[in-house]
Amino acid sequence: MKMLFTAVAVALPTATAFAAEPIPADLRETALGTFKALPSTTPAVANNPITPEKIALGKALFFDPRVSASGVLSCNSCHNLATGGDDNLETSIGHGWQKGARNAPTVLNAVFNIAQFWDGRAEDLKAQAKGPVQAGVEMANTPGQVIATVKSMPQYVDWFNAAFPGEADRVTFDNLAKAVEAFEATLVTPAPFDAFLNGDDAAMTSEQKQGLALFMEKGCSSCHAGINVGGEAYYAFGLIEKPSAEVRPEKDKGRFAVTNSADDSYVFRVAPLRNVALTAPYFHSGKVWDLKQAVAIMGTTQLGEELKVEEVDLLVAFLNSLTGKVPDVVLPILPAETATTPRPAS
Ligand code: HEM
Ligand code: HEM
Repeated sequence: MKMLFTAVAVALPTATAFAAEPIPADLRETALGTFKALPSTTPAVANNPITPEKIALGKALFFDPRVSASGVLSCNSCHNLATGGDDNLETSIGHGWQKGARNAPTVLNAVFNIAQFWDGRAEDLKAQAKGPVQAGVEMANTPGQVIATVKSMPQYVDWFNAAFPGEADRVTFDNLAKAVEAFEATLVTPAPFDAFLNGDDAAMTSEQKQGLALFMEKGCSSCHAGINVGGEAYYAFGLIEKPSAEVRPEKDKGRFAVTNSADDSYVFRVAPLRNVALTAPYFHSGKVWDLKQAVAIMGTTQLGEELKVEEVDLLVAFLNSLTGKVPDVVLPILPAETATTPRPAS
Protein backbone atom coordinates (compact mmCIF):
# COMPACT_ATOMS: atom_id res chain seq x y z
CA MET A 1 0.00 0.00 0.00
CA LYS A 2 2.82 2.35 0.93
CA MET A 3 4.52 1.55 -2.38
CA LEU A 4 1.36 2.51 -4.27
CA PHE A 5 1.17 5.89 -2.52
CA THR A 6 4.78 6.65 -3.37
CA ALA A 7 4.17 5.82 -7.00
CA VAL A 8 1.12 8.10 -7.20
CA ALA A 9 2.94 10.93 -5.47
CA VAL A 10 5.75 10.71 -8.00
CA ALA A 11 3.54 10.33 -11.05
CA LEU A 12 1.05 13.11 -10.35
CA PRO A 13 3.17 16.28 -10.49
CA THR A 14 4.62 15.28 -13.88
CA ALA A 15 1.17 14.64 -15.34
CA THR A 16 -0.13 17.95 -13.97
CA ALA A 17 2.88 19.82 -15.33
CA PHE A 18 2.13 18.50 -18.79
CA ALA A 19 -1.59 19.19 -18.63
CA ALA A 20 -0.81 22.80 -17.72
CA GLU A 21 1.65 23.26 -20.62
CA PRO A 22 0.41 26.42 -22.38
CA ILE A 23 -0.72 26.20 -25.98
CA PRO A 24 1.45 28.58 -28.05
CA ALA A 25 -0.57 31.58 -29.28
CA ASP A 26 0.89 31.24 -32.76
CA LEU A 27 0.26 27.47 -32.99
CA ARG A 28 -1.84 27.66 -36.16
CA GLU A 29 0.58 30.00 -37.88
CA THR A 30 3.56 27.79 -37.04
CA ALA A 31 1.67 24.68 -38.11
CA LEU A 32 0.75 26.29 -41.44
CA GLY A 33 4.47 26.74 -42.10
CA THR A 34 4.86 22.96 -42.06
CA PHE A 35 1.49 21.38 -42.86
CA LYS A 36 -1.33 22.01 -45.30
CA ALA A 37 -5.06 21.41 -44.96
CA LEU A 38 -6.70 18.92 -47.31
CA PRO A 39 -8.65 20.41 -50.21
CA SER A 40 -12.44 20.18 -50.13
CA THR A 41 -12.59 18.94 -53.72
CA THR A 42 -10.95 16.02 -55.54
CA PRO A 43 -7.34 16.98 -56.35
CA ALA A 44 -6.08 17.01 -59.93
CA VAL A 45 -3.56 14.32 -60.89
CA ALA A 46 -0.88 14.48 -63.61
CA ASN A 47 -1.78 13.29 -67.11
CA ASN A 48 -5.20 12.02 -66.11
CA PRO A 49 -8.09 14.50 -66.13
CA ILE A 50 -10.61 13.25 -63.58
CA THR A 51 -14.22 12.82 -64.69
CA PRO A 52 -17.25 11.26 -62.98
CA GLU A 53 -17.20 8.44 -65.56
CA LYS A 54 -13.57 7.58 -64.76
CA ILE A 55 -14.26 7.65 -61.04
CA ALA A 56 -17.25 5.31 -61.46
CA LEU A 57 -15.24 2.85 -63.57
CA GLY A 58 -12.31 3.03 -61.16
CA LYS A 59 -14.61 2.31 -58.24
CA ALA A 60 -16.03 -0.78 -59.98
CA LEU A 61 -12.50 -2.05 -60.71
CA PHE A 62 -11.36 -1.33 -57.13
CA PHE A 63 -14.11 -3.56 -55.77
CA ASP A 64 -13.98 -6.26 -58.47
CA PRO A 65 -12.28 -9.50 -57.33
CA ARG A 66 -12.16 -10.68 -60.94
CA VAL A 67 -9.21 -8.34 -61.42
CA SER A 68 -7.23 -11.05 -59.58
CA ALA A 69 -6.36 -14.40 -61.14
CA SER A 70 -8.20 -16.31 -58.41
CA GLY A 71 -11.33 -14.17 -58.56
CA VAL A 72 -10.98 -13.84 -54.78
CA LEU A 73 -9.00 -10.65 -54.18
CA SER A 74 -10.02 -7.12 -55.02
CA CYS A 75 -8.04 -3.99 -54.19
CA ASN A 76 -10.55 -3.57 -51.37
CA SER A 77 -9.49 -6.94 -49.85
CA CYS A 78 -6.20 -5.40 -48.74
CA HIS A 79 -7.27 -1.74 -48.77
CA ASN A 80 -10.64 -2.10 -47.11
CA LEU A 81 -12.41 1.25 -47.17
CA ALA A 82 -14.50 0.18 -44.20
CA THR A 83 -11.39 -0.28 -42.01
CA GLY A 84 -9.17 2.72 -42.72
CA GLY A 85 -8.16 1.76 -46.28
CA ASP A 86 -5.92 -1.12 -45.23
CA ASP A 87 -6.25 -4.74 -44.06
CA ASN A 88 -5.18 -4.44 -40.42
CA LEU A 89 -2.86 -7.41 -40.85
CA GLU A 90 0.84 -7.56 -40.08
CA THR A 91 1.52 -8.28 -43.74
CA SER A 92 -1.13 -8.91 -46.39
CA ILE A 93 -2.52 -12.26 -47.45
CA GLY A 94 -2.47 -12.52 -51.24
CA HIS A 95 -2.90 -15.08 -54.02
CA GLY A 96 -3.04 -18.68 -52.78
CA TRP A 97 -2.98 -17.54 -49.15
CA GLN A 98 0.59 -16.28 -49.53
CA LYS A 99 1.84 -13.88 -46.91
CA GLY A 100 3.44 -10.77 -48.41
CA ALA A 101 6.61 -9.10 -47.17
CA ARG A 102 5.21 -5.75 -46.08
CA ASN A 103 2.31 -4.14 -44.28
CA ALA A 104 -0.38 -2.68 -46.60
CA PRO A 105 -0.49 1.13 -46.36
CA THR A 106 -3.83 2.90 -46.55
CA VAL A 107 -5.17 4.12 -49.89
CA LEU A 108 -6.86 7.05 -48.10
CA ASN A 109 -5.13 10.28 -49.16
CA ALA A 110 -2.47 8.22 -51.00
CA VAL A 111 -2.91 10.63 -53.92
CA PHE A 112 -0.88 13.20 -51.98
CA ASN A 113 2.22 11.05 -51.45
CA ILE A 114 5.24 12.00 -53.58
CA ALA A 115 5.56 8.38 -54.69
CA GLN A 116 3.85 5.10 -53.84
CA PHE A 117 4.91 2.09 -51.71
CA TRP A 118 7.05 2.06 -48.57
CA ASP A 119 10.12 2.47 -50.76
CA GLY A 120 8.56 4.94 -53.23
CA ARG A 121 9.18 2.64 -56.22
CA ALA A 122 6.03 3.69 -58.12
CA GLU A 123 5.91 7.26 -59.36
CA ASP A 124 2.17 7.75 -58.95
CA LEU A 125 -1.12 5.93 -58.43
CA LYS A 126 -1.53 4.92 -62.07
CA ALA A 127 1.94 3.36 -62.10
CA GLN A 128 1.17 1.79 -58.72
CA ALA A 129 -2.14 0.18 -59.75
CA LYS A 130 -0.41 -2.03 -62.32
CA GLY A 131 1.77 -3.55 -59.61
CA PRO A 132 -0.65 -5.50 -57.40
CA VAL A 133 -2.61 -6.86 -60.37
CA GLN A 134 0.55 -8.61 -61.58
CA ALA A 135 2.37 -9.30 -58.32
CA GLY A 136 2.61 -13.04 -57.67
CA VAL A 137 1.91 -12.61 -53.95
CA GLU A 138 -0.99 -10.23 -54.52
CA MET A 139 -3.41 -10.70 -57.44
CA ALA A 140 -1.13 -12.89 -59.64
CA ASN A 141 -2.80 -11.82 -62.89
CA THR A 142 -1.52 -10.61 -66.27
CA PRO A 143 -2.54 -7.42 -68.13
CA GLY A 144 -3.81 -9.53 -71.06
CA GLN A 145 -5.97 -11.68 -68.81
CA VAL A 146 -7.45 -8.68 -66.95
CA ILE A 147 -8.32 -6.95 -70.21
CA ALA A 148 -9.86 -10.18 -71.58
CA THR A 149 -11.91 -10.35 -68.38
CA VAL A 150 -13.30 -6.81 -68.59
CA LYS A 151 -13.85 -7.08 -72.37
CA SER A 152 -15.98 -10.18 -71.82
CA MET A 153 -18.57 -8.08 -69.97
CA PRO A 154 -20.38 -5.55 -72.25
CA GLN A 155 -21.20 -3.29 -69.30
CA TYR A 156 -17.50 -2.82 -68.59
CA VAL A 157 -16.82 -2.00 -72.25
CA ASP A 158 -19.55 0.67 -72.09
CA TRP A 159 -18.01 2.08 -68.91
CA PHE A 160 -14.52 2.25 -70.51
CA ASN A 161 -16.05 3.92 -73.60
CA ALA A 162 -17.73 6.54 -71.41
CA ALA A 163 -14.59 7.12 -69.34
CA PHE A 164 -12.17 7.44 -72.26
CA PRO A 165 -14.16 9.01 -75.14
CA GLY A 166 -12.25 9.91 -78.27
CA GLU A 167 -9.52 7.31 -77.77
CA ALA A 168 -9.08 4.68 -80.49
CA ASP A 169 -8.38 1.84 -78.09
CA ARG A 170 -10.30 2.41 -74.88
CA VAL A 171 -10.24 -0.87 -72.98
CA THR A 172 -6.54 -1.00 -72.12
CA PHE A 173 -4.44 -1.79 -69.05
CA ASP A 174 -3.20 1.83 -69.00
CA ASN A 175 -6.77 3.10 -68.91
CA LEU A 176 -7.70 0.61 -66.20
CA ALA A 177 -4.88 2.05 -64.08
CA LYS A 178 -5.99 5.62 -64.84
CA ALA A 179 -9.57 4.86 -63.78
CA VAL A 180 -8.38 3.31 -60.52
CA GLU A 181 -6.21 6.38 -59.90
CA ALA A 182 -9.20 8.67 -60.52
CA PHE A 183 -11.26 6.77 -57.93
CA GLU A 184 -8.39 6.78 -55.42
CA ALA A 185 -8.04 10.56 -55.85
CA THR A 186 -11.53 10.91 -54.35
CA LEU A 187 -10.45 9.13 -51.14
CA VAL A 188 -9.62 12.30 -49.23
CA THR A 189 -10.49 12.48 -45.52
CA PRO A 190 -10.74 15.95 -43.93
CA ALA A 191 -10.06 15.73 -40.21
CA PRO A 192 -10.31 17.97 -37.11
CA PHE A 193 -6.68 18.96 -37.79
CA ASP A 194 -7.74 20.43 -41.16
CA ALA A 195 -10.60 22.35 -39.56
CA PHE A 196 -8.11 23.74 -37.04
CA LEU A 197 -5.67 24.75 -39.80
CA ASN A 198 -8.61 26.42 -41.58
CA GLY A 199 -9.32 28.59 -38.55
CA ASP A 200 -11.65 26.61 -36.28
CA ASP A 201 -10.10 26.81 -32.80
CA ALA A 202 -12.65 24.42 -31.32
CA ALA A 203 -11.92 21.63 -33.80
CA MET A 204 -9.05 20.20 -31.72
CA THR A 205 -8.98 19.56 -27.97
CA SER A 206 -6.36 21.30 -25.80
CA GLU A 207 -4.55 18.00 -25.44
CA GLN A 208 -4.46 17.56 -29.23
CA LYS A 209 -3.13 21.11 -29.62
CA GLN A 210 -0.45 20.47 -27.01
CA GLY A 211 0.41 17.32 -28.91
CA LEU A 212 0.69 19.27 -32.16
CA ALA A 213 3.00 21.80 -30.49
CA LEU A 214 5.13 18.95 -29.14
CA PHE A 215 5.17 17.19 -32.53
CA MET A 216 6.79 20.28 -34.01
CA GLU A 217 9.00 21.07 -31.01
CA LYS A 218 10.47 17.55 -30.81
CA GLY A 219 11.25 17.47 -34.53
CA CYS A 220 8.73 14.84 -35.67
CA SER A 221 7.55 17.41 -38.19
CA SER A 222 11.02 17.77 -39.70
CA CYS A 223 10.18 14.44 -41.39
CA HIS A 224 6.39 14.10 -41.07
CA ALA A 225 5.43 17.33 -42.84
CA GLY A 226 3.22 18.60 -45.64
CA ILE A 227 -0.36 17.84 -46.56
CA ASN A 228 -0.17 14.13 -45.56
CA VAL A 229 1.88 14.70 -42.40
CA GLY A 230 4.52 12.54 -44.09
CA GLY A 231 4.71 10.81 -47.45
CA GLU A 232 6.95 13.41 -49.02
CA ALA A 233 10.51 12.52 -48.04
CA TYR A 234 12.78 9.52 -47.48
CA TYR A 235 14.78 8.82 -44.34
CA ALA A 236 16.62 5.93 -42.77
CA PHE A 237 14.40 4.00 -40.36
CA GLY A 238 16.99 4.02 -37.60
CA LEU A 239 18.51 7.40 -38.39
CA ILE A 240 19.93 7.70 -34.85
CA GLU A 241 19.47 4.26 -33.32
CA LYS A 242 18.88 0.96 -35.08
CA PRO A 243 15.39 -0.46 -34.43
CA SER A 244 15.17 -4.08 -33.22
CA ALA A 245 15.53 -6.73 -35.92
CA GLU A 246 11.90 -7.69 -35.33
CA VAL A 247 10.59 -4.20 -36.14
CA ARG A 248 13.08 -3.62 -38.96
CA PRO A 249 13.87 -7.04 -40.43
CA GLU A 250 17.42 -7.28 -41.84
CA LYS A 251 16.39 -8.50 -45.27
CA ASP A 252 14.13 -5.58 -46.26
CA LYS A 253 16.53 -2.76 -47.10
CA GLY A 254 13.82 -0.39 -48.34
CA ARG A 255 14.90 2.09 -51.00
CA PHE A 256 18.20 0.30 -51.53
CA ALA A 257 16.27 -2.10 -53.78
CA VAL A 258 15.08 0.87 -55.87
CA THR A 259 18.29 2.92 -56.20
CA ASN A 260 21.02 0.34 -55.47
CA SER A 261 22.84 3.02 -53.53
CA ALA A 262 24.42 2.02 -50.20
CA ASP A 263 23.20 5.35 -48.76
CA ASP A 264 19.65 4.09 -49.22
CA SER A 265 20.02 1.00 -47.00
CA TYR A 266 17.00 0.86 -44.69
CA VAL A 267 15.71 4.14 -46.08
CA PHE A 268 11.91 4.27 -46.32
CA ARG A 269 9.37 6.87 -47.32
CA VAL A 270 8.36 8.81 -44.20
CA ALA A 271 5.02 7.25 -43.32
CA PRO A 272 2.04 9.55 -43.96
CA LEU A 273 0.24 9.87 -40.62
CA ARG A 274 -3.32 10.76 -41.63
CA ASN A 275 -5.77 8.20 -40.16
CA VAL A 276 -2.86 6.47 -38.42
CA ALA A 277 -5.13 5.66 -35.46
CA LEU A 278 -7.10 3.38 -37.84
CA THR A 279 -4.23 1.62 -39.54
CA ALA A 280 -2.50 -0.60 -36.97
CA PRO A 281 -0.28 -2.54 -37.10
CA TYR A 282 2.58 -0.13 -37.77
CA PHE A 283 5.80 0.19 -39.74
CA HIS A 284 6.61 -1.54 -43.02
CA SER A 285 7.03 -4.77 -41.05
CA GLY A 286 3.62 -4.41 -39.37
CA LYS A 287 5.19 -5.65 -36.14
CA VAL A 288 3.87 -2.97 -33.77
CA TRP A 289 0.18 -2.93 -32.86
CA ASP A 290 0.15 -0.13 -30.30
CA LEU A 291 0.35 3.45 -31.58
CA LYS A 292 1.96 4.58 -28.33
CA GLN A 293 4.68 2.02 -28.78
CA ALA A 294 5.18 3.11 -32.41
CA VAL A 295 5.61 6.72 -31.25
CA ALA A 296 8.07 5.68 -28.53
CA ILE A 297 10.08 3.74 -31.13
CA MET A 298 10.19 6.85 -33.33
CA GLY A 299 11.56 8.76 -30.33
CA THR A 300 14.51 6.44 -29.88
CA THR A 301 15.24 5.49 -33.51
CA GLN A 302 14.67 8.84 -35.26
CA LEU A 303 15.27 11.42 -32.52
CA GLY A 304 17.61 9.55 -30.16
CA GLU A 305 15.29 10.35 -27.30
CA GLU A 306 13.44 8.31 -24.71
CA LEU A 307 10.04 10.07 -24.79
CA LYS A 308 8.21 10.40 -21.46
CA VAL A 309 4.87 8.61 -21.07
CA GLU A 310 3.06 11.97 -20.93
CA GLU A 311 4.78 13.14 -24.09
CA VAL A 312 3.78 9.97 -25.94
CA ASP A 313 0.18 10.50 -24.76
CA LEU A 314 0.11 14.06 -26.10
CA LEU A 315 1.66 13.03 -29.41
CA VAL A 316 -0.93 10.27 -29.77
CA ALA A 317 -3.69 12.77 -28.90
CA PHE A 318 -2.46 14.90 -31.81
CA LEU A 319 -2.32 11.86 -34.12
CA ASN A 320 -5.97 11.16 -33.24
CA SER A 321 -6.89 14.57 -34.63
CA LEU A 322 -5.72 13.27 -38.03
CA THR A 323 -8.56 10.73 -38.19
CA GLY A 324 -10.79 12.10 -40.92
CA LYS A 325 -14.15 11.53 -42.53
CA VAL A 326 -14.00 8.81 -45.15
CA PRO A 327 -16.13 9.82 -48.16
CA ASP A 328 -19.39 7.94 -48.54
CA VAL A 329 -18.74 5.11 -50.96
CA VAL A 330 -21.79 3.35 -52.35
CA LEU A 331 -20.87 -0.24 -53.11
CA PRO A 332 -20.91 -0.64 -56.92
CA ILE A 333 -23.04 -3.34 -58.51
CA LEU A 334 -20.66 -5.16 -60.85
CA PRO A 335 -21.50 -6.65 -64.26
CA ALA A 336 -22.19 -10.40 -64.28
CA GLU A 337 -19.63 -12.61 -65.99
CA THR A 338 -20.47 -14.05 -69.42
CA ALA A 339 -19.66 -17.29 -71.26
CA THR A 340 -16.36 -15.76 -72.42
CA THR A 341 -15.17 -14.46 -69.06
CA PRO A 342 -11.93 -16.29 -68.13
CA ARG A 343 -12.58 -18.69 -65.25
CA PRO A 344 -10.83 -18.21 -61.91
CA ALA A 345 -7.41 -19.84 -61.68
CA SER A 346 -6.42 -21.71 -58.56
C1 HEM B 1 0.55 -0.67 -51.55
C2 HEM B 1 -3.44 0.34 -54.14
C3 HEM B 1 -4.28 -4.42 -54.42
C4 HEM B 1 -1.33 -5.04 -50.65
C5 HEM B 1 -0.45 0.02 -52.22
C6 HEM B 1 -0.47 1.45 -52.44
C7 HEM B 1 -1.60 1.74 -53.13
C8 HEM B 1 -2.29 0.49 -53.38
C9 HEM B 1 -2.09 3.11 -53.61
C10 HEM B 1 0.60 2.43 -52.00
C11 HEM B 1 0.16 3.23 -50.82
C12 HEM B 1 1.30 4.01 -50.23
O1 HEM B 1 2.45 3.82 -50.64
O2 HEM B 1 1.07 4.81 -49.33
C13 HEM B 1 -3.91 -0.90 -54.58
C14 HEM B 1 -4.85 -1.11 -55.68
C15 HEM B 1 -5.04 -2.43 -55.77
C16 HEM B 1 -4.26 -3.07 -54.72
C17 HEM B 1 -5.46 0.00 -56.52
C18 HEM B 1 -5.85 -3.20 -56.81
C19 HEM B 1 -5.51 -3.06 -58.13
C20 HEM B 1 -3.67 -4.97 -53.33
C21 HEM B 1 -3.87 -6.32 -52.87
C22 HEM B 1 -3.03 -6.49 -51.79
C23 HEM B 1 -2.31 -5.25 -51.60
C24 HEM B 1 -4.87 -7.31 -53.45
C25 HEM B 1 -2.88 -7.69 -50.89
C26 HEM B 1 -2.82 -8.94 -51.39
C27 HEM B 1 -0.48 -3.96 -50.68
C28 HEM B 1 0.80 -3.91 -49.97
C29 HEM B 1 1.36 -2.67 -50.27
C30 HEM B 1 0.40 -1.97 -51.11
C31 HEM B 1 1.40 -5.01 -49.08
C32 HEM B 1 2.74 -2.17 -49.81
C33 HEM B 1 3.81 -2.84 -50.69
C34 HEM B 1 5.17 -2.18 -50.62
O3 HEM B 1 5.33 -1.07 -50.15
O4 HEM B 1 6.11 -2.83 -51.10
N1 HEM B 1 -1.58 -0.54 -52.79
N2 HEM B 1 -3.57 -2.10 -54.05
N3 HEM B 1 -2.73 -4.34 -52.54
N4 HEM B 1 -0.68 -2.79 -51.36
FE1 HEM B 1 -2.15 -2.43 -52.63
C1 HEM C 1 6.91 5.94 -39.32
C2 HEM C 1 5.35 8.91 -35.76
C3 HEM C 1 9.64 11.21 -35.96
C4 HEM C 1 10.60 9.03 -40.17
C5 HEM C 1 6.17 6.49 -38.29
C6 HEM C 1 4.98 5.90 -37.71
C7 HEM C 1 4.53 6.73 -36.73
C8 HEM C 1 5.45 7.85 -36.66
C9 HEM C 1 3.28 6.56 -35.87
C10 HEM C 1 4.32 4.59 -38.18
C11 HEM C 1 3.26 4.89 -39.18
C12 HEM C 1 2.69 3.68 -39.90
O1 HEM C 1 3.20 2.57 -39.79
O2 HEM C 1 1.69 3.86 -40.60
C13 HEM C 1 6.42 9.76 -35.47
C14 HEM C 1 6.47 10.66 -34.33
C15 HEM C 1 7.70 11.26 -34.34
C16 HEM C 1 8.37 10.79 -35.54
C17 HEM C 1 5.35 10.86 -33.31
C18 HEM C 1 8.31 12.17 -33.33
C19 HEM C 1 8.34 11.74 -32.01
C20 HEM C 1 10.23 10.89 -37.16
C21 HEM C 1 11.44 11.49 -37.66
C22 HEM C 1 11.71 10.88 -38.85
C23 HEM C 1 10.67 9.87 -39.09
C24 HEM C 1 12.21 12.60 -36.97
C25 HEM C 1 12.85 11.10 -39.81
C26 HEM C 1 14.13 11.25 -39.35
C27 HEM C 1 9.72 7.95 -40.27
C28 HEM C 1 9.85 6.89 -41.25
C29 HEM C 1 8.79 6.00 -41.00
C30 HEM C 1 8.04 6.54 -39.89
C31 HEM C 1 10.93 6.75 -42.32
C32 HEM C 1 8.54 4.68 -41.73
C33 HEM C 1 9.28 3.59 -41.00
C34 HEM C 1 9.09 2.22 -41.63
O3 HEM C 1 9.89 1.86 -42.51
O4 HEM C 1 8.19 1.50 -41.27
N1 HEM C 1 6.44 7.66 -37.62
N2 HEM C 1 7.58 9.88 -36.18
N3 HEM C 1 9.77 9.94 -38.03
N4 HEM C 1 8.62 7.72 -39.48
FE1 HEM C 1 8.11 8.80 -37.83
